[in-house]
Amino acid sequence: MNAIRKILITGGCGFIGSNLIAGLMSRSDAPDIRVLDNESLGKKAHIAEFDVDFIRGDVRDLNVVTGALRGVDAVIHLAADTRVVESIANPVHNFEVNVVGTFNLLSAMRETNVTRIINASTGGAIIGDAIPPVNEGMVPAPLSPYGASKLAAEGYCSTFSHAYGFQATSVRFSNVYGPRSYHKGSVVSAFLKNILRTESLVVYGDGEQTRDYVFVEDLCTGITKALESGKSGVFQLGTGLPTSINALIDNMLQITGSNYPVHVNYEPYRDGEIKQTWCDITKARRELGYNPQTTVLAGLQKTWEWFLSLNGEQTSRENNA
Ligand SMILES: NC(=O)c1ccc[n+]([C@@H]2O[C@H](COP(=O)([O-])OP(=O)(O)OC[C@H]3O[C@@H](n4cnc5c(N)ncnc54)[C@H](O)[C@@H]3O)[C@@H](O)[C@H]2O)c1
Repeated sequence: MNAIRKILITGGCGFIGSNLIAGLMSRSDAPDIRVLDNESLGKKAHIAEFDVDFIRGDVRDLNVVTGALRGVDAVIHLAADTRVVESIANPVHNFEVNVVGTFNLLSAMRETNVTRIINASTGGAIIGDAIPPVNEGMVPAPLSPYGASKLAAEGYCSTFSHAYGFQATSVRFSNVYGPRSYHKGSVVSAFLKNILRTESLVVYGDGEQTRDYVFVEDLCTGITKALESGKSGVFQLGTGLPTSINALIDNMLQITGSNYPVHVNYEPYRDGEIKQTWCDITKARRELGYNPQTTVLAGLQKTWEWFLSLNGEQTSRENNA
């Protein structure tokens, strides 16, 4: 990991953070890892199997963040209020966690001479309603406070890179799915929970709307490649492929089997829902060597196996972020 011996992962107890830790720890050159997480959604118990330093604390607290940076070579910033709909209801909270929290982190990094950061961002929510595929050159037009907060965080990363010599990389994720996502409200997690409970799946519209579903292990490889590259700037990480909700459900039917009958209710489209979106990953392929390999079927298979393996442990993971 070219001179990166210790990494601070903010939000490391969450869905992507816990998968990232699993991936980093499996490397022969595994770095030391410190996690800063306020356990508002992810829990320390969800990363208990890993030998990491853990600090229970909030990215809005400058003193805590400064302490967490001690001895660290790089930061992977995942902590965020990730809920788009709730951000519309409560934009102040979203602003404080995502914008003030990120600014605090960057300021504390500047004070402590830690100048390498990977900042978790988002493609769709920043760009808004655009003709796909979404790419890094498009003019941002966020539709939600969540999207605006991520755009502001990218702006500060860019500024700290230019004004203070940071290596600051914002990686824009598409729709991430995979193991360790039980607490998420995203479509794959929601549908697999419905199937486990033998409840119907609700699809808004005809099911032909598309998204770019990227398997979390591929995404985490992309994050690691971004870290190793040392390149500043913005990179879109997804698969580059559209998948419709109907295709997603067909794949789920193939893996869940006859013990779990699946019934789908189609309801009218919700106002404001973007019909088609996926992303262009040419830049990440070219500059980072990012090369996602997992098919939706293979990724869903691994995700389903993990959901089945929970064996009643679900309640500690109920949150619906
Ligand atoms: N999952 C996706 O599909 C997706 C897509 C685009 C972008 N992202 C971004 O990736 C990052 C990780 O997302 P995730 O899906 O793992 O979400 P998650 O909710 O599972 O994880 C976020 C973690 O941050 C912690 N956290 C929240 N507020 C905090 C605070 N104020 N201080 C410290 N910790 C705090 C939570 O407890 C949680 O463990 C986020 O920045 C999110 O915006 C995710």
